[in-house]
Amino acid sequence: MLIAVSSGTPAQRGAEPGGGHRAAGGRSVCLPRCAVVRRPFARRSLSSPARPPLVQTGTEHPMPDHVLITGGAGFIGSHLADELLRNGEPVLVLDNLSRGFVERNVERLKGRHGAGVEVRVCDVRDEQAVRDAVRRASFVFHLAAQVAIARSVADPAHDFEVNARGTLNVLEALRRLDRPPPLLFASTSKVYGALPDLPIERGEERYRPLCETAREHGISESQPLDLRSPYGCSRGAADQYVLDYARTFGLHAVVLRVSCVYGPPQFGNEDQGWIAHFVARAIRRDPITLYGDGLQVRDALFIEDLVDALLRARRALKPASGRAFNIGGGPGTAVSLVDLLDLLEELDGRRPVVSLAAWRRDDPRYYVSDCRAFQALTGWAPRVALRDGLRALYQWRLGVEARLGAVYADIPSSVRMDRLEAAS
Ligand SMILES: NC(=O)c1ccc[n+]([C@@H]2O[C@H](COP(=O)([O-])OP(=O)(O)OC[C@H]3O[C@@H](n4cnc5c(N)ncnc54)[C@H](O)[C@@H]3O)[C@@H](O)[C@H]2O)c1
Repeated sequence: MLIAVSSGTPAQRGAEPGGGHRAAGGRSVCLPRCAVVRRPFARRSLSSPARPPLVQTGTEHPMPDHVLITGGAGFIGSHLADELLRNGEPVLVLDNLSRGFVERNVERLKGRHGAGVEVRVCDVRDEQAVRDAVRRASFVFHLAAQVAIARSVADPAHDFEVNARGTLNVLEALRRLDRPPPLLFASTSKVYGALPDLPIERGEERYRPLCETAREHGISESQPLDLRSPYGCSRGAADQYVLDYARTFGLHAVVLRVSCVYGPPQFGNEDQGWIAHFVARAIRRDPITLYGDGLQVRDALFIEDLVDALLRARRALKPASGRAFNIGGGPGTAVSLVDLLDLLEELDGRRPVVSLAAWRRDDPRYYVSDCRAFQALTGWAPRVALRDGLRALYQWRLGVEARLGAVYADIPSSVRMDRLEAAS
């Protein structure tokens, strides 16, 4: 399904080291260091006949008529792309496909929308590739990121290059344009770190803040940043750069600090996508490690609700510009890790197997997003109840397991799980 066409001198491109050959859809595909999966694109009507590329000027500045999604092959990016394409908007995906299994998302997008989507297999560390892509954009969603805390600790320089430098590349590419398109940056609630100044009490069933406002509404944007781990630092730096480019250079740019997002088709791990990780392990009867006592609380946002928030933020870009908003499931979906095990037991009919481990450093006892600022501006509210979203994720994962079971019938479950988690 992937058709790789070179778009530049491979030596100039900064793709994943050694990333020349990747498997896509079970087949081996040769990808140059920056490759384009390109089809003629349609504007507005996806059913209209394919037309040749836009007329380009001598300086090769094409008309900006695509929505650019960096990281558009990923879990969130591919859902967002799908929604935009269904609304008839051409999408340009820039992604180095470094996250496990994302080729399948690309194939799904191409299968559904064919000519509407263009995929550039490029790296956000590659300044020229980013500049080329941004020139084509009427709007930019910057979602590409190194998403794992553990990897950031193992290789802080790589984490910095992708998350901080990659974001700076996007901002600089925008700043160079006469009329830069607006930017939405998907930041993370992890920029609030361990929330050291939030007084907490341990109830019988879960932790809860002593402050009534935080208990009722969650954590607002007035919470001071507390950057922990190389990942926290690189993401916090990117978050602050985006806000400052709005301030200093007048870019139209907004930051959404997103907490846990879940839904199909998500391959999660302990670092990101913990709900998907719990679901997969519960189905396979592999032990789930609970760090600490399991009473820590998180909120959970179903992927469709997040896509709705991203699109509403785009519509409200002018008043939202230069601001950061917390986005998550909010108090209505607040759940402790033990609560989630209970919900999984209801779905699966069996209590998940659990093993206990010491607290992880900087693991906040409570994080729930206060989304009232964003709600007031856009009218957005999460609509999918945790039980319903969890069921959708669980059903999807059951199907994955059935297919994997047939393929890996002879390999012990724990070994398969290790491979899957290493890849995701
Ligand atoms: N999923 C969540 O719960 C969650 C929570 C908070 C914030 N976010 C943020 O939302 C964004 C998208 O998250 P996601 O869940 O879709 O993650 P994901 O890993 O599925 O998607 C990220 C995509 O970025 C691509 N990528 C990674 N490094 C790249 C690079 N150097 N150049 C180009 N592409 C690169 C990956 O191949 C992947 O397709 C990320 O910025 C993430 O930090 C996600």
